Amino acid sequence: MDFKPYIRTIPDYPKKGIQFRDVTTLFGNPRAFRAAVDALVQPYAGVRIDKIAGIEARGFILGGAVAHQLSTGFVPVRKKGKLPYKTIHEEYDLEYGKDQVEIHVDAVKPGEHVVVVDDLIATGGTAFAAIKLLERAGAKVVGCLFVIDLPELGGADKIRALGKEVTTLVE
Ligand code: PRP
Ligand code: HPA
Repeated sequence: MDFKPYIRTIPDYPKKGIQFRDVTTLFGNPRAFRAAVDALVQPYAGVRIDKIAGIEARGFILGGAVAHQLSTGFVPVRKKGKLPYKTIHEEYDLEYGKDQVEIHVDAVKPGEHVVVVDDLIATGGTAFAAIKLLERAGAKVVGCLFVIDLPELGGADKIRALGKEVTTLVE
């Protein structure tokens, strides 16, 4: 399936010069949403995965569906200050600012196999921080899944250079 027609582009959001790729239109289409989740899980059919780590906020929507389909647990990778228990955090640079992500200290068990899920990879800063966090907690991050890759920003290559498998559905 060609997912591009289901992704809406918003010019100058959230800042002038940013062409924001909006996946809410894809999520809102029953066939496209199911097909995207089916395509994302494909590389991990029959592979040991203990947990999906979904990155706030759109990675929660996709990651929940992927976790259900692969029968794994789910770990929310949240923006700072949202999780109730003890956390560890990592700071990172965004295409349009700076932010921090965090997970609960006990979100993964040492040695667990984890796949990171988000809607889009741009510079890779967010995914890189999520991987670092999960690995600090003892997980083995085996790969990352994104609907959209913005290849000119180099994020997917940066994650592949860490030796992680990166799956994306559209450029
Ligand atoms: C977007 C997107 C990724 C990240 C990608 O989230 O959903 O998480 O940016 O950028 P990067 O590869 O350059 O790090 P955003 O920061 O807009 O947060 P939100 O999901 O809370 O809206
Ligand atoms: N859409 C969603 N998240 C993003 C984008 C985008 O176009 N660019 C950087 N993060």
